[in-house]
Amino acid sequence: MIDIRFEIVPPAHHDTAVVAVYEDNVLSAAASELNRENGSIFTSYLEKQSAFQGKSGQTLVIPAGKDSPYHHFMLWGLGKSEQPDSDALETAGGKLSLALKALKSRTVCLFAPDAPAKAEGHHMEWSEIVCRTLSGLQLRSYEFKKYKTPKDDDDDQALLETVTVISAKDTELAATFESHNAVCEGVFWARNLVNEPPNVLYPESFAQMIKDDLKPLGVEVEIFDEKKMEKLGFHAHLAVGKGSERQPRAVIMRWNGTDNKDKEADKPLAFVGKGVTFDTGGISIKPSAGMEDMKLDMGGAATVVGLMKTLALRKANVDVVGIVGLAENMPSRNAYRPSDIIDSLSGKTIEVLNTDAEGRLVLADCLSYVQNTYDPRLVVDLATLTGAMMVALGCEYCGTFVNDDDFWAKLEAASSESNEKLWRMPLDKAYKKEMESSVADLRNMGNGRFAGACTAAGFLEHFVDEDRVWAHMDIAGTAWISKDSAICPKPGTGFGVRVLNTLIARFYE
Ligand code: BES
Ligand code: MN
Ligand code: ZN
Repeated sequence: MIDIRFEIVPPAHHDTAVVAVYEDNVLSAAASELNRENGSIFTSYLEKQSAFQGKSGQTLVIPAGKDSPYHHFMLWGLGKSEQPDSDALETAGGKLSLALKALKSRTVCLFAPDAPAKAEGHHMEWSEIVCRTLSGLQLRSYEFKKYKTPKDDDDDQALLETVTVISAKDTELAATFESHNAVCEGVFWARNLVNEPPNVLYPESFAQMIKDDLKPLGVEVEIFDEKKMEKLGFHAHLAVGKGSERQPRAVIMRWNGTDNKDKEADKPLAFVGKGVTFDTGGISIKPSAGMEDMKLDMGGAATVVGLMKTLALRKANVDVVGIVGLAENMPSRNAYRPSDIIDSLSGKTIEVLNTDAEGRLVLADCLSYVQNTYDPRLVVDLATLTGAMMVALGCEYCGTFVNDDDFWAKLEAASSESNEKLWRMPLDKAYKKEMESSVADLRNMGNGRFAGACTAAGFLEHFVDEDRVWAHMDIAGTAWISKDSAICPKPGTGFGVRVLNTLIARFYE
């Protein structure tokens, strides 16, 4: 992670000084001042070119003079200052990160942009505007290079180490940025976990990593091994893991951040994550082309643990319980079969029609367990659950199934604030009904390939208590990307940490 600090006066030497420029090359206050101090270097450069126009995310490098404390100046476009747009601000930060990397800057001094020209028509605080750009810068700087042997002439040797943000209101910015950076840390961890290969990250090792990372932050972590799961009745979850040498695990995490613990409102919020560390499909095996992507099938679990980390780092004033269901879905002589009828923690029996519809089986038991044990105020589950979700919405929007209009309104508000896009999908008794079996209580697949994301949600609905506020987020399309985005290199995105952290911060603290 980049070490982002805040100072009033720029310290002695830095590789690069970054100053903000608005649309049509209107210089920010700091840019004007540096321009004046350096013999109008910016204005004369800008006159001689036409490519850089101060548009959001544009950058222009200007070599600094011999006596300057910097090697380079970088002009950084922020677009129209009177219309800050949180998405564009993050993207501008992301682009700055790439430009600084291309310049091989290790230490950067960034002069904070001014407050927006007009206060009307937008609701973002100035410190929030600045921190959005810094958040984009931080998020786009992420790299997963752990398994690459470094070479001497490696382009990546010169990594961006520190960004010192210069502002008269340095303490105000530092205070605002603290929670933003906690979010970035949660997102980075979630991305790391998704990007780890499945020979390294499997249920037991994943569970240990969770404990190692979260316990020191004050999160209670409890790991259920297969014996404990058997005793507690995680039969559906265990069935999914049967084909693998790697035994399944369930991990419970508790962050108890409130001071008074006995009010009704202090019933915890619950988050449930699908953690299939590799999904071959099992006996209903997947085609080999593209199967390598199935290491991402623990993306829901990664988001839940990333969220727990963020909450603990920023000492969120809320009680949260997280549970992740970990298993590897493999074919073998021990594997569960199509046509098996299995038990579940809820007591409902399930006819397995396709061993590749495994995520819903893992989630079913985790949902039952968390509701029975903690009587949570609401439950949100996250899962890379269906290919059908990607067919419907692609990688842009996360399909979200919610059984409560008021809760959907909160999710929607958190979504627009955090720039993680959610789209409401239908829960309908027809989908729920379709998941009933003639030989068991339920079956794990619908009639055909139509509405696969909706029938999967309909299956889960059978495991949600009457009157329990619940949302199911199918992150199959959003947990990973096959092309770098403005704020994230491929593949793991850590999707969900930001929107759920915003949801908690706005409505439950
Ligand atoms: N993990 C997959 C869903 C998935 C596919 C996630 C592609 C990300 C990218 C899930 O376990 C699965 O295999 N679902 C099946 C369900 C079907 C057998 C009812 C699917 O979507 O094809
Ligand atoms: Mn599957
Ligand atoms: Zn799966």
